[in-house]
Amino acid sequence: MDIRESAIVILGASGDLARRKLIPAMDSLHQAGKIKENCFIIGSGRSDFTDKEFRAHVEASKTLAPLLHYHKGIPGLKKFMKTLGRFKTVIVFFSLPPKVYAETAAALRKEGFGRETRIIVEKPFGYDLESAQELNRQLAGHFPEEQIYRIDHYLAKEAIQNILIFRFANSLFYPVWNAGYIESIQIEAVEELGVESRGAYFDGAGVIRDMVQNHLLQMLALLTMEAPVSLHPDDIRNQKINILKTLEVVEFKRGQYEGYRQEDKVADDSTTETFVEMQLRIRNFRWEGMPIYIRTGKALDHKGTRIGIRFRRIPRLLYNTAGTLEPNHIIFHVQPATGIVIGHAVKVPGSDRDIVHSHLNYSMNDVFGAQLAADAYQRLLMDALAGDRTLYVSADETELAWKVLSDVLDAGDLFLYRRGEMPASPLGINWIDFQSYEPPAG
Ligand code: BG6
Repeated sequence: MDIRESAIVILGASGDLARRKLIPAMDSLHQAGKIKENCFIIGSGRSDFTDKEFRAHVEASKTLAPLLHYHKGIPGLKKFMKTLGRFKTVIVFFSLPPKVYAETAAALRKEGFGRETRIIVEKPFGYDLESAQELNRQLAGHFPEEQIYRIDHYLAKEAIQNILIFRFANSLFYPVWNAGYIESIQIEAVEELGVESRGAYFDGAGVIRDMVQNHLLQMLALLTMEAPVSLHPDDIRNQKINILKTLEVVEFKRGQYEGYRQEDKVADDSTTETFVEMQLRIRNFRWEGMPIYIRTGKALDHKGTRIGIRFRRIPRLLYNTAGTLEPNHIIFHVQPATGIVIGHAVKVPGSDRDIVHSHLNYSMNDVFGAQLAADAYQRLLMDALAGDRTLYVSADETELAWKVLSDVLDAGDLFLYRRGEMPASPLGINWIDFQSYEPPAG
């Protein structure tokens, strides 16, 4: 029997994620020659599909279809896979509700999946610190940590991956990357859409669990961590962990959009937050005394994720005697455009002292074209196949992130805001006007 390179097993394959995200990602990887004929994709779920029906269900392209097979449930899966070949690596994607993660891992173990296996799980990883610890403990009972790949799809975004390069491949910004020069770090991830059809999940979560615990704290850790001793995933992870260990919430305010309680599958007395603004701080030598602001929410006036670094104002001397010169800033545009904007003062031509703020722009699409950036799932699948966990989140990171938020979950009053509007900052934060600094294209 021939030894094949790898197999990708999708558990919960009849669900939405497989058809919408996973199969299209695999299709693109196959067309790009990155998933070859020696890789099989095996769907598994509760439905009674034949291979042919499964291929039709997930709308696989003609070229990908021959690599796709289906087996109902986990019992017998290993035996079924043996009929296809022997595989050096088996990726098992849990496209399943988190409450069945532990029993599924146990079933895979019982079926004989061992060291060749890498399991990929999606958030939520727990509901709070205790449940995350419990889930991690249960998973660890079946697979060692190095075989568990926890997805945070924000880590697969190009702009987020670019943060470490910007910080550690440029000498220009390295000396000023501390509280002595930076006045505040500001991160926003805002959305126009409300909860749509996800009320059942979202009403039990809220944006703090849904966005802050994972995506926002991960972005923050990459922005503020010390230089790792190498680019090995463990070294990067350890530096992120050091940040999460010293991170504290200073204050926060939760909001809910008007009409949220009337959304499908949302409790009519729900106190789940659909918006949050927070001030945090990092209690280490580099960042002591500098505020970090984050805000995230649904049903706001636009969609976008941006990270702003606002530098301290220059002294009230020379051109700034009135103290009105805008401070410098660096903005990482994560989406919709991907790029970096650096704001700085320039002289108005023909005048003596008129100064305005101008920008240096890097737009990823202008420089590289849109086609280079891989979709998040393509990137994450490729890394899992290669055994690279850099863009995946470790058990310690998830638990520490929950710990940071322990006193915040379900706590505090709730203010109402109008759907489609950005509420005025409830903490009185002077937010960077991110939208006026969009990179030119993309
Ligand atoms: C998901 C959240 O993790 O991220 C969603 O569960 C949110 O509620 C989504 O809408 C945002 O992702 P993106 O990539 O569209 O910013």
